Amino acid sequence: MVPLNPQKSAKEVVGEAAAALVESGMILGLGTGTTVDYFLTALAGRIQSQGLVIKGVATSMATAEQCEKLGIEITTLADHPELDLVVDGADEVDGQFRLIKGGGGALLREKIVAAAGRKVVIIVSSDKLVERLGATFLLPIEVMPFGYFATLEKVARHGCQPFLRMTEDDEPFLTDNGNYIIDCKFPQGLEQIESLHASLSQIPGVAEIGLFIGLCDQVLEGCADGTLVVHEKNELF
Ligand code: A5P
Repeated sequence: MVPLNPQKSAKEVVGEAAAALVESGMILGLGTGTTVDYFLTALAGRIQSQGLVIKGVATSMATAEQCEKLGIEITTLADHPELDLVVDGADEVDGQFRLIKGGGGALLREKIVAAAGRKVVIIVSSDKLVERLGATFLLPIEVMPFGYFATLEKVARHGCQPFLRMTEDDEPFLTDNGNYIIDCKFPQGLEQIESLHASLSQIPGVAEIGLFIGLCDQVLEGCADGTLVVHEKNELF
């Protein structure tokens, strides 16, 4: 537990704490979302003030654009198939370090990048820590546009109600990969998570599932009063 920091938001506190973990020479995985934006800002501050030399693989076009603005050098998994440290946000985290991700639609690239990480640190505000995944947040699944309705029907057989994600203009939301997202409502939350993930993965047309299992090593939790709590792997909340 780190002392109170009431002037800062929970997201800012964890963003700065994650930036403090970065060492010069590291190749990073750079997640997506509003919490990661604080990390990128703090990282850029360290690059400027301390001469930190790093490169990062961006998990979305939005993150790549943000890095360009902030002066963070971007690289690729082709050049660096293994990453020293991946920092990303999440929509929900449970006590076994399983995650729901994809609220911003970047889940496919986020999972590829997380799987390339030697260490994956997830930065969240306290409200993202849950007893059961999917009880409040819908599970996002990225699907190919071709035949998506057939895919959606097969997903629905897993006891959920799937909704095609739409934009404000009432068009299907498109991911950076040109795919659709379906958001799945499980009335009781997710059950038998490992077998659910395995079964959903078998459906033709499913590009990736926003369920991350075994891909998180440390959780940095930011509390509303500015306190930082560090959760180590497999520690129950
Ligand atoms: C992006 O697709 C997501 O996985 C984000 O990492 C997640 O939604 C967290 O975003 P915020 O930090 O904006 O809540």
